[in-house]
Amino acid sequence: MSYLETISIEDTANVAKIEPKGRSRFITLSINGERHEITVKPRKMLIEVIRDTVGLTGTKGSCSSGTCGACTVLLSGRPVLSCITLAVECDGKEIRTVEDLAENGKLSALQEAFLDQGAVQCGFCTPGMLMSATALLERHSKPSLAQIKKGLEGNLCRCTGYNAIVDAVLQVSGQGVTPVMK
Ligand code: FES
Ligand code: FES
Repeated sequence: MSYLETISIEDTANVAKIEPKGRSRFITLSINGERHEITVKPRKMLIEVIRDTVGLTGTKGSCSSGTCGACTVLLSGRPVLSCITLAVECDGKEIRTVEDLAENGKLSALQEAFLDQGAVQCGFCTPGMLMSATALLERHSKPSLAQIKKGLEGNLCRCTGYNAIVDAVLQVSGQGVTPVMK
């Protein structure tokens, strides 16, 4: 069982009971500090709202079944898999996506560390990795190796072999890892 918090299959069934005819619902989401008032079908997933309705395409969909972690965003500060999280369950909540990390066009220290360590190759897993790592670093400013592995266990990467990603988190938390790509 992944550490990622998700909406359960039972919850999905409950929503179907509440909205038997699939009536649209009006919801309010705060995404990266901006308020969005949106009408959604009850089965619409959070990733669809983020990408297709709001137009923030940094969040990636891959497996669409809660397996790979590519779609990870922060919901009320905690990582969730947006491909299996119903948008209606997020009504009134705060969401952060990868677009929230850079400020005024300047990459965050974590994003820079990923570049420094060569922790980005195809980049498909990267937005989800960054959001899981962000949540981890907000919980533990100097995470141990075990905490890093636990914090990122729900995010799969097919390119990097993970060591560079772990080193990026160690680097940004000031734990004696120096950039290798500069
Ligand atoms: S796309 Fe959501 S977990 Fe893979
Ligand atoms: S960089 Fe390609 S899947 Fe992670």
